[in-house]
Amino acid sequence: MKRIISALCVMALAFSLVAGIGGFGSASASEAGSSILVAYFSATGTTKAIADHAADILGADLYEIVPTVPYTSADLNYGSADSRTSKEQNDPNARPAISGRVADMAQYDTVLLGYPIWWGQAPRIISTFLESYDFSGKTILPFCTSGSSPIGTSDDNLHALAPSAHWLDGRRFAAGTTRATISSWLDANGITAAKPATTAKPTATPKPTATAKPAPTATPRPTATATPKPVVTATPKPIATATPKPIATATPRPAATATPKPEASATPTLAAPTVTIGVASNGIKVTWNAVDGAPRYMVYYRENGGKWTRIGTTTATSYTRKAAQLKNGVTYQFTVRCCTDDKATFLSKYEASNSLRYYAAPTVKISKVSTGIKVTWNAVEGSPRYMVYYKENGGKWTRIGTTTDTTYTRKAAQLKNGVTYQFTVRCCTSDKKTLLGPYKASNGLKYTK
Ligand SMILES: Cc1cc2nc3c(=O)[nH]c(=O)nc-3n(C[C@H](O)[C@H](O)[C@H](O)COP(=O)(O)O)c2cc1C
Repeated sequence: MKRIISALCVMALAFSLVAGIGGFGSASASEAGSSILVAYFSATGTTKAIADHAADILGADLYEIVPTVPYTSADLNYGSADSRTSKEQNDPNARPAISGRVADMAQYDTVLLGYPIWWGQAPRIISTFLESYDFSGKTILPFCTSGSSPIGTSDDNLHALAPSAHWLDGRRFAAGTTRATISSWLDANGITAAKPATTAKPTATPKPTATAKPAPTATPRPTATATPKPVVTATPKPIATATPKPIATATPRPAATATPKPEASATPTLAAPTVTIGVASNGIKVTWNAVDGAPRYMVYYRENGGKWTRIGTTTATSYTRKAAQLKNGVTYQFTVRCCTDDKATFLSKYEASNSLRYYAAPTVKISKVSTGIKVTWNAVEGSPRYMVYYKENGGKWTRIGTTTDTTYTRKAAQLKNGVTYQFTVRCCTSDKKTLLGPYKASNGLKYTK
């Protein structure tokens, strides 16, 4: 479809040129080819290099879209949700101001429009640019540079900002693209050398003073502390049914703990998964949404807001951190980043999950006493109450009730001769509504009267 539209646009362009020769077009178009402007925004110089080549090949005027407030390296930090670029890209109405103007936009028939990809889209300053002029009847050929993302929908999404322009299909270039490649791209789009620029040049605009590569050492955004997800179950789920999805072992790395940050030539292309954690019968269950196009996910945790520790990667969208790996009283958060199959490159940023204060499972012991079966367990520091369960002959768990004590006796009258009993205890809230931690079953005891 894109190709068809592109072909139609090329035809439209060709037609307008032919019409011009036939006497229906503007004088400038008919005399020496169309007048071309190469307009671009470039925060770190990559797009500028492509724009320079294109303008040189075409003999076109060059106009740099310069932000009134230059982007600092902190502004370009895509690892922080609080950075200027993150905020602007998340706000469809953001229109960063441009310093200066194209002196006489009316003289151009064709505008090449260049920009870097920011979060899969054109920077919002391109929206400012497109809304600043009348592009009716002009042909716009977008191009972009990126770390790895394709031009994607970034060019199509600009159409609405200049609806009466003839939009050609855009193209993405890697850093350092050769002049020859740019030349053939222009040829393929029917853009040929412009007439010598005799009219006023675009207004000169000052260069941004502080441009820099995005800081790769961004720390994850702090997430507001949330109460543990309520897990209101009458009976604890049998451990056997809660087997977590296998998680690939992390490739050994020099640093055991590290802040998730771009590695190698990593660039964010996908959305950060939304991660939620909750109490499971055997630990903490981490779940996240599948991100379209993510081959794998890299999972991290941190304790009490400390450094992120990498756990490993998985293709699943959940992971259970086992009770044996968790510490009572510690507040956990998890985060997940999309990554390549070879685990070497991140494909998304990340957002921390809700926080969860972990309550360990009490270790439960049972013994036969004259009055029945005595159940005892260790006090779990901080636990407001305990919920007690039993099961017969390996069947389903049945809830007995709650206590603030660390012992409970099941009376002989409630016990059946020859039945094997197991008990278990879970930490719960004072209002008895929410289980706070996992559980471990006691040993079995065959009761005889
Ligand atoms: C805020 C920000 C977001 C970015 N998002 C992406 C992205 O989604 N995909 C990608 O491949 N590269 C991304 N990049 C990398 C740039 O697109 C790439 O470095 C580009 O060539 C920079 O062009 P420039 O030097 O002209 O500014 C991002 C860079 C920044 C600063």
